[in-house]
Amino acid sequence: NYKVSVLGASGGIGQPMSLLLKQTPGVKHLALYDIAHTPGVAADLSHIDTAAKVTGHTGPDEIGECLTGCDVVVIPAGVPRKPGKFNTQDDINKPLKFCRIVSFLTSSVISNSKFVFLMLLHIQTSTKFYNKLNEFHEYLFRIPYKIFTLVCFCFVCELKISLLINSKLHHKIVSPGMTRDDLFTTNASIVAELSKACAKYCPKAFICIISNPVNSTVPICCEMFKKAGVNDLGKVFGVSTLDIVRSNAFVAEAKGLDVSSVNVPVIGGHAGITIIPVISQCQPSVTFDQAALEAITTRIQDAGTEVVKAKAGAGSATLSMAYAGARFAASALDALSGKEGVVECAFVPSDRSDTKYFSTQLVLGPNGIESNLGTGKLSAYEESLVAACIPELQASIKKGEEFAKNY
Ligand code: NAI
Repeated sequence: NYKVSVLGASGGIGQPMSLLLKQTPGVKHLALYDIAHTPGVAADLSHIDTAAKVTGHTGPDEIGECLTGCDVVVIPAGVPRKPGKFNTQDDINKPLKFCRIVSFLTSSVISNSKFVFLMLLHIQTSTKFYNKLNEFHEYLFRIPYKIFTLVCFCFVCELKISLLINSKLHHKIVSPGMTRDDLFTTNASIVAELSKACAKYCPKAFICIISNPVNSTVPICCEMFKKAGVNDLGKVFGVSTLDIVRSNAFVAEAKGLDVSSVNVPVIGGHAGITIIPVISQCQPSVTFDQAALEAITTRIQDAGTEVVKAKAGAGSATLSMAYAGARFAASALDALSGKEGVVECAFVPSDRSDTKYFSTQLVLGPNGIESNLGTGKLSAYEESLVAACIPELQASIKKGEEFAKNY
């Protein structure tokens, strides 16, 4: 019998996650908030014959009504990542051909303008210079020579320009597109504003932040809570559940296991090398040789980018994230209802590493984090991954904290 709110409910994650939450036992009221399209999403979901009442709220004027009395708030509001434009040499060849033609035509025009300029100079020059120039022009503008210089000039220009374009585009081939950190500029203020509203209207709710970059948006939320005088941060979570879901799926696939029985804890943060699957603690126990272990770890770390590339500009992971977000919200509801042994990994304020925030396994209860299970015993390889991610995590956390302090 809980009220759950989704902020960013009309988006790629928000809609399917709201659909899953509409079917989640224990949800009495599903309050959907977004800056656009919420009435439509709410009307659509409200026709489903499950118990949860659905309401739609649009724009800052209606956020108070949406959040008041909320037990769990899930926040997928903000912009997602986009892929790099050019992934293969073939992608580059087409625009390159076009650029070469344009650059050849441009250099021809420039070359001919040089000719026109000299002609004008010729007409305007006083007789004093005329004779000297005349001799030079006679030579310069002899037709075969003129054609020769023109062709040379065009060729050099075209070569220079196409080399430049090629190197610029080539750089983009290796570029994987946007990183989560590239979203900071837009998403930081969205999360700050929504956190401020949560601190005002439902300071005791579980706040589950999906908006990227999670490694910065969670510190932003915590700082906004502190600014509003809410110092209990045991219910603010960065949702990294998708990393666990992916690890379970990939390990089960690689080892031919029943995926429903696989559980891989993921610690660290939620971006690139900060995502650290602890495969040595996988349940049931699995072993990989070092090369396979490194390959599967890299795949888990880059899984978000794999989806961003496959969607080719149509967004990032939405369906798997909706599943993961709904799973985390359901765990929060279980914890609220007093169920024992609810364990989830999440990115939270923590003293379990050399950073102020860190993701580890947490036991959840009615008051949020009941106990932090820490990293557990790590293999030498996993310890090296933790050591490598600390500087990036510290930088992302600091960036978020400073943003919130100046907001
Ligand atoms: P989307 O663009 O499809 O949806 C975002 C929604 O947020 C839109 O409906 C938009 O109107 C809404 N919105 C924008 N500003 C708002 C505001 N001030 N208040 C309320 N709503 C607002 O994006 P998508 O695919 O749903 O992704 C959302 C976020 O989730 C992105 O930042 C993305 O990077 C992140 N994400 C996080 C993952 C994780 O594992 N934590 C996994 C995948 C995505």
